[in-house]
Amino acid sequence: MKRLKLGMIGGGIGAFIGDAHRRASRISNEYTLLGGVFDVDYERNKEFAQLEEISPDRCYRDIDAFVAGELALPEDKRIEVVSIVTPNFLHYHFAKKLIENSFNVICEKPMTLTVEEAEELVRLVEEKNVTFALTHTYTGYPMVRHMKELIKSGILGTIQRVDAQYYQGWINTLIHGNESRITGVWRLNPEYAGVSSCMGDIGIHAFNLIEYTTGLKVEKVLSDLNSIKDDVELDLDGTVLLRFEDNLKGVIRATQVAAGEENNLNIAVYGSKASLKWEQENPNYLYLISDTEPTKIYKPAHTYNSDFAEASHVMPAGHPEGIYEALGNIYKGVAKAIKGEEGFDGEFPTVYDGVRGMKFVHSVVKSNKSGNSWVELK
Ligand SMILES: NC(=O)c1ccc[n+]([C@@H]2O[C@H](COP(=O)([O-])OP(=O)(O)OC[C@H]3O[C@@H](n4cnc5c(N)ncnc54)[C@H](O)[C@@H]3O)[C@@H](O)[C@H]2O)c1
Repeated sequence: MKRLKLGMIGGGIGAFIGDAHRRASRISNEYTLLGGVFDVDYERNKEFAQLEEISPDRCYRDIDAFVAGELALPEDKRIEVVSIVTPNFLHYHFAKKLIENSFNVICEKPMTLTVEEAEELVRLVEEKNVTFALTHTYTGYPMVRHMKELIKSGILGTIQRVDAQYYQGWINTLIHGNESRITGVWRLNPEYAGVSSCMGDIGIHAFNLIEYTTGLKVEKVLSDLNSIKDDVELDLDGTVLLRFEDNLKGVIRATQVAAGEENNLNIAVYGSKASLKWEQENPNYLYLISDTEPTKIYKPAHTYNSDFAEASHVMPAGHPEGIYEALGNIYKGVAKAIKGEEGFDGEFPTVYDGVRGMKFVHSVVKSNKSGNSWVELK
């Protein structure tokens, strides 16, 4: 099998999500990591490259050196796709440079800091005709994919309510502990994180999950955000009312300060005939509930699932799979797209989902600032 040549920007020693991306790329069996700019600090960058057995001449000092170095190589040796796993404020700058030079890109969320930047990436992706994936990781779970397919089949009847919740607690230890650590955490600094912490970091996943599974578009939001402490600039908690077309309503509740909560993302889509519920901390169970039938529980690796869900597990039934495999499924979908192979609808979130995410975050912040008014996602 011909593996794709993978590059990575960020994800050096001690980084959180870069490591998950590398593991996911290996699980997908479709990539070989050949080079990158792994750390903002060049010495640590080189140290990481050595640990990963990356050739020193492909451990680049910065993005300009990366692009120049790779373009100088013959096309069949050149890195074909680059994962961007740096803090938020760098995504746009790196993605733009890479797309302009015709590299395919796998980018972490939120895609950019502003809606305008997100729209500029759409323009560039279309102009350069590259593959661009946004790693809303949870869309890679087999049971989330099955949920999408079941909703598409109409099994729920008319959708009458949508609820998504993303509760974490880890920021508590930062804001109520050693105060000096607040500035050390980039997620709480608007310069690095953007206009929002809670909604930009995790509310955006809940939003994406809603649009991904239902295929519906949120039209308006009304938010009520809370930064908890006076010296915290960004939201750490919030509730967002949602309006879709045809008077459908829903809610996103998200928090980073619910003590004891870990990564409690869940979604429920309630219909006139039946409803579907899924929880990230128990990702291999999808519940179909109704008023007339006993509850049905779908699990991965069974032929009763949709083809899309069935194509999204690695091991046979009963071998629990989790977040690495979900991200691996996204990597697998990207590889198919780059190789021109046929894929399922929704194998990876795209640059258009990135624009939707930025519109969500900015509308939510605007709604809160304007006295909790309705704001359209324009
Ligand atoms: N999809 C998900 O579920 C998920 C989960 C966690 C994080 N994320 C996203 O991933 C991104 C990274 O988050 P993290 O928690 O891994 O951050 P992190 O702080 O743990 O790691 C960031 C890495 O980027 C490197 N870096 C910083 N500036 C750089 C530069 N100029 N050039 C090269 N490397 C540079 C750092 O040295 C570090 O290795 C964020 O945008 C975050 O929102 C997504």
